[in-house]
Amino acid sequence: MFVSENLGVGEKGHLTIGKNDAVDLAGEFGTPLFVFDEELIRKNCRAYKNAMDLHYDGKGLILYANKAFCSLFTCRIAKEEGLGLDVVSGGELYTAIKADFPMEKICFHGNNKTSEELTMAVENNVGHIVVDNVYELELLDKIAENAGKIQKIMFRIKPGIDAHTHSFVQTGQIDSKFGVALENGEAFEIVEKAIAMKNVKLTGVHCHIGSQIFDIDPFVKAAEVMTGFIADVYDKLGYKIEELNLGGGFGIKYTENDDPLAYDAYMKPVSEAVKETCHKRGIEQPFIYMEPGRSIVASAGVTLYTVGAVKDIKNVRKYVSVDGGMCDNPRYIMYQSEYEAVIANKAAMPKNDKVTIAGKCCESGDILIKDTMLQTAQVGDILAVFATGAYNYSMSSNYNRIPRPAVVAVNNGQARVVIKRETYEDLLKNDI
Ligand code: LLP
Repeated sequence: MFVSENLGVGEKGHLTIGKNDAVDLAGEFGTPLFVFDEELIRKNCRAYKNAMDLHYDGKGLILYANKAFCSLFTCRIAKEEGLGLDVVSGGELYTAIKADFPMEKICFHGNNKTSEELTMAVENNVGHIVVDNVYELELLDKIAENAGKIQKIMFRIKPGIDAHTHSFVQTGQIDSKFGVALENGEAFEIVEKAIAMKNVKLTGVHCHIGSQIFDIDPFVKAAEVMTGFIADVYDKLGYKIEELNLGGGFGIKYTENDDPLAYDAYMKPVSEAVKETCHKRGIEQPFIYMEPGRSIVASAGVTLYTVGAVKDIKNVRKYVSVDGGMCDNPRYIMYQSEYEAVIANKAAMPKNDKVTIAGKCCESGDILIKDTMLQTAQVGDILAVFATGAYNYSMSSNYNRIPRPAVVAVNNGQARVVIKRETYEDLLKNDI
């Protein structure tokens, strides 16, 4: 009935998230409110970990891609579930440090890491830095030398794979700001250069072909191409690349039209592709990493809003406006993303009204869901938008000086605030 498995309708006819009544949560913590089902996040972590153990004999590590939703809360869960982390900025790294995350299990990404960020990573003994380009390689070699360390690195490689997803989140093709390309020899050249350096140790190669991908084929192809590259390096240079990081990108169910596969469905064929290519090319199997972000947290998140103005423009459109919008969820305005919603206090009632759910920002494109079926909305109703756990809070803003919502974690019927609601004072804290 709902897009996420942990959602239901309780005795009062209200939406339930895990064992919690969504209307009660809105009453207790206010709206807009992000609610995360901690049990579901943990379940997703375990599903990935088990799939890795099962299909690749445990010779791999799942890294949670923090950019989907970075917080002390998510870093701690990843740590407790035995996952590593993908961080992509000094701020994400700082959050991981403050969460006491084991540094050796962190991969630091980014196409333009600053000298300060690289220094911070080296000084804090981050496990791997995923180097994007030659400039960064040279800079890092100097930084590691100054710190008296040998830094383990991987290279971000564009395998030339066309992933079928929104062009803004496609990253594996040659025309991308990320990484070095295989097809023009750049990747090979940077490998040769790194091997000759003293303060970096090349241990792996990395690729990430895109996000919200449902097909298995592009992942399998990427695994074959990348493993083939490891073999080419071995054949031509006699150098053993021992690790392969295959990125994230697995799609999730936002609406009834989405049909994602179980994590096993990716892990199994991808593992097989790596094993087979190794066998064919006569190289040892690399240790592999996968970096799911969205598929760990998206379905576990629900945003609760309070309905305000309802504007029925006869023969045109009916707008239901809520107390949040593109400031907490910019995904419609950025990618025309689709979501599903219910009125939490009318969850058992039929959806008989076609409406467009609008935010409160001063921007016509500030829409959460265009032309969706909904229960008849009235002022004061609680609207729940599903699958907002990834790339919502992490991409939120203070546009129109709207404070960010609070984040509440629910677990076994208990609810606790894990990120406080911003106050107007918070908004002014850097103004002089
Ligand atoms: N690894 C790397 C190197 C990445 O760049 C990303 C996402 C991931 C892993 C995790 O991908 P996921 O499993 O979450 O698809 N803001 C966009 C998504 C941007 C993805 C950026 N990189 C959105 O809201 O759809």
